Amino acid sequence: MLANRKILLCVSGGIAVYKAVALVSKLSQAGAEVKVIMTESAKQFVQPLSFQVMSRNDVYFDTFDEKDSSVIAHIDLADWADLVLVAPATANMIAKMANGLGDDMVSTVLLATTAPIWVAPAMNVHMYDHPAVKRNIDRLHHDGIRFIEPSEGFLACGYVGKGRLEEPEKITELVAGHFTKNKPLKGKKVVVTAGPTRERIDPVRFLTNFSSGKMGYAMAEAAAELGAETILISGPVSLPVPSGVKRIQVESAQQMLEAVLGEYDSADLVVKTAAVADYRPAAIAGQKVKKKEGNSVLELERTVDILQQLGQLKSHQILVGFAAETDHVAKYAKDKLERKNADYIIANDVSADSAGFDHDTNAVTVYGRGEFERAFPVMPKKALALDLLTLITEKEFAK
Ligand code: CTP
Repeated sequence: MLANRKILLCVSGGIAVYKAVALVSKLSQAGAEVKVIMTESAKQFVQPLSFQVMSRNDVYFDTFDEKDSSVIAHIDLADWADLVLVAPATANMIAKMANGLGDDMVSTVLLATTAPIWVAPAMNVHMYDHPAVKRNIDRLHHDGIRFIEPSEGFLACGYVGKGRLEEPEKITELVAGHFTKNKPLKGKKVVVTAGPTRERIDPVRFLTNFSSGKMGYAMAEAAAELGAETILISGPVSLPVPSGVKRIQVESAQQMLEAVLGEYDSADLVVKTAAVADYRPAAIAGQKVKKKEGNSVLELERTVDILQQLGQLKSHQILVGFAAETDHVAKYAKDKLERKNADYIIANDVSADSAGFDHDTNAVTVYGRGEFERAFPVMPKKALALDLLTLITEKEFAK
């Protein structure tokens, strides 16, 4: 799986360092050549000799210890790697990376490399939840760093929760996937919309819906993984930007319309996952609306149906809409396909237990032109997104 791949493993200091030794073994068994750099605190947990034996290479930890005088070690290692893996990544190492510090061999190499960087965090559950750590991870997502999320379970500190370094087998599999995955959307531009919109009533109130953005973000992540230049136009949600994705943040249906139109001419595929408001207040009050005796009536006006507008303007683009329904799913989805001049409508029954808003799983049926219909079982939104895009890619771009 990893034959002839050069993996530079950066080990920072937490109890999970012992698992990093097994990781070197797994990566080597998969065919990779592995070199290891350790921080001083990582050396407190495991002797460099263990990594040396496992990798059959010198282990590095001192920026000023130049083993070969013909090269500068940290630059040489940074250039050597096909992929740099930070595992385990402590909260401290993540903070250094997020702020561009280079005060030891690991952080210096991470600044110097142009290879893709993957980070597998491991720490106490409360540390992983700390706003500063979250902020740093978010920042690194923006920088295009890929994260291998820690798993849940018993932690060395005695807590049970999220923070365990992902298993070496799984990390090896994910890293291998990076090299083997084919990129059928390479050269294509995919625009994904996600999340709810907010329609303001006055300076302190708005109309919105329960969309979490998870399905749209999963679609954008999948598009980037399949090699597409991916633009994610997102309403207000609290999700990190998937790696390799450019995000444009919007608030209202009107802003989303303008952002989508700005990208439309050069787009090959537009996936409209967003739950766009169909109505907005006819007027936005400049001041906070004060309560009065009796009932109040809010006048609403229609927003532009973005998908329908894109359908009318369509030249070469493939248009994919979503439909959240509670009944007559097939009938309504097929109707939307026609009415909005879309190429596919992905319908989900939001009344089902494991589907729709704010779930991590979804079950959908895809309807396409010429009576095309394919049902997908309940599965995690990320896996579903990959399957959906693979289906559309095969049908539309693999000709
Ligand atoms: N959509 C859009 N612009 C809008 C409203 C919806 O682009 N102003 C898109 C959504 O992103 C989604 C699809 O249209 O891809 C959903 O269809 P829609 O008819 O709006 O769904 P509902 O509002 O749920 O349906 P209904 O017509 O039954 O009210």
